[in-house]
Amino acid sequence: MARSKGHLSLLLLSAVVASLVAGSSAGIYHIVGAGKGWRIAPNRTYYEEWARTRNISIGDKLMFLYRSGVYNIVEVPSKDLFVGCSMRNITNRYQNGPTIIELTQPGPRYYFCGVGKHCEEGQKLAINVSAVAQQSRVDDLAASSAGDATAARHLPGLAACLLASAWSQLM
Ligand SMILES: *[C@@H]1O[C@H](CO)[C@@H](O)[C@H](O)[C@H]1NC(C)=O
Ligand SMILES: *[C@@H]1O[C@H](CO)[C@@H](O)[C@H](O)[C@H]1NC(C)=O
Ligand SMILES: *[C@@H]1O[C@H](CO)[C@@H](O)[C@H](O)[C@H]1NC(C)=O
Ligand SMILES: *[C@@H]1O[C@H](CO)[C@@H](O)[C@H](O)[C@H]1NC(C)=O
Repeated sequence: MARSKGHLSLLLLSAVVASLVAGSSAGIYHIVGAGKGWRIAPNRTYYEEWARTRNISIGDKLMFLYRSGVYNIVEVPSKDLFVGCSMRNITNRYQNGPTIIELTQPGPRYYFCGVGKHCEEGQKLAINVSAVAQQSRVDDLAASSAGDATAARHLPGLAACLLASAWSQLM
């Protein structure tokens, strides 16, 4: 892991993640974009492909890792607004990264970055939240460590490492 960007933020982040994982009652933490975090996508289908490979359910949390002031998140209520990257009717706006959004309702949700032309360049995420709740875990982490027993025991530490490395790329 990069050590250059200050131990304080790393420590803070680790503490936050450890408490999040320890205190989570139910649901899966989905780290949006996995290791890339929330940024201008490498291609226009990156976040679409990320979403397609997972089941997202009620009670789950979306974790957006991004740098405040460079990126943000806006939520729009319809597919039309999402497809058109239109900020005509924003239902939620988040601008202090990292942002964790708990999904409390089933059905489609539409998010994109409202900065510049980031949405047009593919920094946009559509999901369909399923009504069936899933067991608590940190996704992407499970995928990256093959979900073995050791990984489960060291979940908070591993989650912190994963997030910290994603975070250091952003800063
Ligand atoms: C988009 O980028 C991701 C990550 O670099 C890659 O895995 C994926 O194949 C790319 N998709 C397309 C359609 O180029
Ligand atoms: C999503 O859920 C379905 C039905 O429970 C399951 O068959 C599938 O493997 C799951 N996909 C992923 C990526 O977890
Ligand atoms: C904006 O979105 C809200 C929530 O879905 C909806 O009730 C309202 O009708 C929308 N307004 C416009 C002008 O699209
Ligand atoms: C979301 O999933 C539900 C249940 O699987 C399905 O009935 C609905 O059509 C889906 N909505 C969208 C927009 O894909």
